[in-house]
Amino acid sequence: MAKTIIISNRLPLQIKIENEELTVTPSVGGLATGMKSVHKAGDSLWLGWSGLTEEEIDDNLKADVEAASAKEACVNVPLTQDDVENFYYGFSNKTIWPLFHYFTEYTEYQQHYWVKYREVNEKFAEVVAKHIEPGDKVWIHDYQLMLLPQLIKERYPDSAIGFFLHIPFPSFEVFRILPWRTEILEGLLGADLIGFHTYDYERHFFSSVRRLLGYEINFNEIIINNRIIRSDIFPMGIDYDKFHNASVSQQRKSVKDRTELHQELDKHQLVNPEVRFILSIDRLDYTKGIQKRLYAFEHFLEKYPEYRGQATLIMLCVPSRQNVDQYQRMKSEIDELVGRINGNYSTINWTPVWYFYRALPFENLIDLYSSSDVALLTPIRDGMNLVAKEYVAAQIDSKGVLILSEMTGAAKEMSEAILINPNNIDAIADAIHEALAMPAEEQITRIDTMQNRLKRYNVEKWADDFFNNLKEVQEQQALQS
Ligand code: G6P
Repeated sequence: MAKTIIISNRLPLQIKIENEELTVTPSVGGLATGMKSVHKAGDSLWLGWSGLTEEEIDDNLKADVEAASAKEACVNVPLTQDDVENFYYGFSNKTIWPLFHYFTEYTEYQQHYWVKYREVNEKFAEVVAKHIEPGDKVWIHDYQLMLLPQLIKERYPDSAIGFFLHIPFPSFEVFRILPWRTEILEGLLGADLIGFHTYDYERHFFSSVRRLLGYEINFNEIIINNRIIRSDIFPMGIDYDKFHNASVSQQRKSVKDRTELHQELDKHQLVNPEVRFILSIDRLDYTKGIQKRLYAFEHFLEKYPEYRGQATLIMLCVPSRQNVDQYQRMKSEIDELVGRINGNYSTINWTPVWYFYRALPFENLIDLYSSSDVALLTPIRDGMNLVAKEYVAAQIDSKGVLILSEMTGAAKEMSEAILINPNNIDAIADAIHEALAMPAEEQITRIDTMQNRLKRYNVEKWADDFFNNLKEVQEQQALQS
């Protein structure tokens, strides 16, 4: 039976070796969390990197890694230390990631990173070749694999290939800075369908295709050598029921059955019923605007002193890409800022910022989502931001307020949030004040509207739309040829 081959750089599971034993944990980030539900529901095989390098997997462990992956219908694409250094940390995360998020000052242009990027994309194509069968659909994800659509199309011209970009596609003026810009576009155009989260990203992509490759765009299609390539917008949804139902069932549990974290949060509110929780959750990444958020919270405490002792910022930062300089520097800056704010404002009964630097299990995320009065998400740039959607889904009495950066893809669909410009510290402080003072009826109206939308356009619908579109392109192609 025909299957779907999902391909992303990172598998949804991360394998580590601790005391010569394998441990398996879920991967972090929007792509893995979102696609996991799609993978679970369908007949699919997921190809990607397990997080271990070839050097780490000795012969004794090889079978174990394969078995751990196979259990989840996954296949490990073997990456060496050199690949990780130059393809993953290098071209993917020191070139494409900063450039596509408009951090041009962080972008590195190293020829050897590019060479490795090409080689690793070819490596992925080799693994695809071992698993692809006639009739299979291929769905490639994200910026680490932008050459892969073309590499597969060359070998299997009849295969249906979809590509989805989870991060912004930058404006032509930024994209053109990249020395390897034409190769990247040609790589993407190997797909039959190219999906983006927002209209702007799609428009930027078309503009680059037109101006750099000279192809005409007809509405949302490009025809190259009789081959139709379509691009469209698919704003990624979440598994709404999973988040909402988990929140409902945690709330129903008797106090003693709740998680330790939940009990701590409850206890805190018992001691001080006035205290309000403001939540932020992100990977520790410079695109997320974490320092700006801390400056804004500090400013809020200055501007609205009546909230001192009454509002706590719970900030969860999940460690990410720790070998990249900017991430290390940022970590120190955040440590310092949190220390400064807590040093200046803490009292015996109140700590302004609770800062967690680690990944937390799903049930604890739900504890945080459901116990918080406000979510404060301030990315400088973000392709989508699924945390915003998860927070809204987890509100059970329809109370809660979302403050969201207008620089996220999610802001395009969530106009009921309080939208802020992450560079406007004063406006963020006012937004926190507005959120904390918002009447219950207004909170309910806003959350209800967003929840209804999220329920309808959930991750399953997102994937269905993408596949239906892919099928349409194929049918159209068959008529044409
Ligand atoms: C973002 C990217 C994903 C990536 C994730 C985690 O969500 O769009 O492609 O997997 O971050 O980053 P990492 O570098 O740990 O895979």
